[in-house]
Amino acid sequence: MTKSTTLDTDRLSEGELLSRLEADLLPKHVAIIMDGNGRWAELRGLPRIAGHREGIKSVREVIALCLELGIHALTIYAFSQENWNRPAQEIDALMGLLEHYLATERSSLVQQGVRFRTIGRVTALPPSALHWVRTTEQETAHLDKLILTVALSYGGRSEIIDAVSQIARECQRGALRPEDIDETLFQNYLSTSDLPDPDLLIRTSGETRISNFLLWQLAYTELYFTPTLWPDFRRREALLALLEYQRRDRRFGRVFSAVSPQIGL
Ligand code: IPE
Ligand code: IPE
Ligand code: MG
Repeated sequence: MTKSTTLDTDRLSEGELLSRLEADLLPKHVAIIMDGNGRWAELRGLPRIAGHREGIKSVREVIALCLELGIHALTIYAFSQENWNRPAQEIDALMGLLEHYLATERSSLVQQGVRFRTIGRVTALPPSALHWVRTTEQETAHLDKLILTVALSYGGRSEIIDAVSQIARECQRGALRPEDIDETLFQNYLSTSDLPDPDLLIRTSGETRISNFLLWQLAYTELYFTPTLWPDFRRREALLALLEYQRRDRRFGRVFSAVSPQIGL
């Protein structure tokens, strides 16, 4: 498949952007750091929670696009372990919003064939939020059109430490030997063990960092940073990210003879 070298997208309609997507070049797993809700609200003189509320509309649009395109896995960073350091008022508002989203949206998730799962230390969530998390997980457990993984109270370093300590305990009780430990075994102990690594990571709001998200899994992921704030990241923005992804050469450390100069090595 040859990839286009220029992309003048400003003049293209959403329909035209869609028609430029090539089915065999779509990512199988997209991960998103949904950032910029607070700034979106502050720019409008609104409380930060208004930005989080508006951001839910972007979540809906991205889920709908994944379903439309047959992208099988979507993993979204909704609340990091470090986010517990925010003011209690914002944390309470975010947890309330999570509950409201799950309570009202779960029937639509079922209808669309979306399986909802979480990664992170969800038991740290307030009991009522945890109740809706468990309920939604159970009600959607049989579905598989889209695996929607929501990272809640998630930290990539904790996830790695949890895997290491579990492996250490298994070695201690004789169920594993240190020489059995390799990358394949290790990733079976991660919370994403049943998912392929993300092909594409999107981060909105202009920040160009990972913020403790999926540290192991992102080793060879294509990174896409956009200044767009998450509440403004709608269908068109998502199509642009997918088109940019299609232009990337994923080499995984190799050289491709088709593109490398013939220098007689
Ligand atoms: C992302 O938006 C949502 C969460 C981290 C919960 P922010 O709340 O980080 O918004 P900014 O980055 O302050 O604009
Ligand atoms: C990352 O955003 C976490 C989520 C999107 C849930 P933050 O806004 O918390 O990240 P930093 O603090 O800018 O790195
Ligand atoms: Mg932020």
